[in-house]
Amino acid sequence: MNTMTDYEGKAKKLSDDEILLSIDEFSAGYDASLILKNVSMAVPRNQVVALLGRNGVGKTTLLNSIMGLVSASGGSMTFNGRLVDSLAPDRRARLGIGYVPQGRDIFPGLSVWENLNVSLRVSGVAREEAEARLNEVYELFPVLKEMLKRKGGVLSGGQQQQLAIGRALLLKPKLLILDEPTEGIQPSIIDQIEDAIYAIKKKGNMSVILVEQYLDFARNASDRFYILERGSVVRKGEIDQLDNDLIARYLTV
Ligand SMILES: Nc1ncnc2c1ncn2[C@@H]1O[C@H](COP(=O)(O)OP(=O)(O)O)[C@@H](O)[C@H]1O
Ligand SMILES: [Mg+2]
Repeated sequence: MNTMTDYEGKAKKLSDDEILLSIDEFSAGYDASLILKNVSMAVPRNQVVALLGRNGVGKTTLLNSIMGLVSASGGSMTFNGRLVDSLAPDRRARLGIGYVPQGRDIFPGLSVWENLNVSLRVSGVAREEAEARLNEVYELFPVLKEMLKRKGGVLSGGQQQQLAIGRALLLKPKLLILDEPTEGIQPSIIDQIEDAIYAIKKKGNMSVILVEQYLDFARNASDRFYILERGSVVRKGEIDQLDNDLIARYLTV
C-alpha cells in the first residue's frame, strides 16, 4: 500500500491496483556522485503526474532511472505490479514504458515515415493494428501525415517533438514519459501537445509523467505533482494545491 500525502498532510490512500508505477526509497547517481536520495513517488493509472523542480535537481536522472538507464544504489521500482529493478531498458520498454527524452532524439537522417516505422517494427504488430495506431497518431498530430517524406532533421523543433511523441505512442505504452516537451517550442504547437495529452487522458489507458518548466502547461495537463530539490522529493500533492507559495519557493529562478 502506497500513500499519497499532500503537502498539508491530508492523506489519500491509493491501493496497489490503482498505482501503475511505484518508486520506493530510490537512490541513484553517476559514478561517485549521488544525485537521487530516497525518492518515493507513485504514478496512478490513467493519471498525469508533473515532476517539477529547478534545473539540475535530478528530474532527468529520475526519468532515466525509470527507464533503466541509470543504475540504482538503493530502493526499488515496481511497474504494473512487477519489480523492474534488474531489467534492462529494452525490457522495460516492452513492459510498456515509453520515453521521449529531453531534446527529442528522433533520427534526423530518416524521413518522418521511417522514424514512425521504426517503432511499428519494434512493436511487431500486424498490419491492421499498425494502421490503426498510425491513424491515431495522425489524428493527434496532423502535420506528421503531411510531412511523411521529409527528413526528421529538417522539421521545426515543435514538429520534431510531435514526431518523438508520436513515435513513442505507436508502441502503446502504459506509461508515457515526457521530459520538457515544450522546451523551445512555439505556442501553437504547445497547444497541440497539450491537446494530445488531454486526448490520451480521455482514452483512459495510459499514465504520463510530465517534466515541465512551463507551469501553466503543467498545471493544465496534470492531476498531481511532485517537486524535487537537490535530488529529494520536497513536496507532492493534487495539482490544484500547487500554489504561488510553492512556486516561489521551489520553482522560480
Ligand atoms: N551523465 C551525467 N554524469 C554526471 N553527472 C550528471 C550526468 N547527468 C546529469 N548529471 C548531474 O546530475 C544532476 C541532476 O541533473 P539532471 O537530472 O539532468 O537535472 P534536471 O533534469 O532536473 O535539470 C546535475 O548536477 C547534473 O550536473
Ligand atoms: Mg532535465
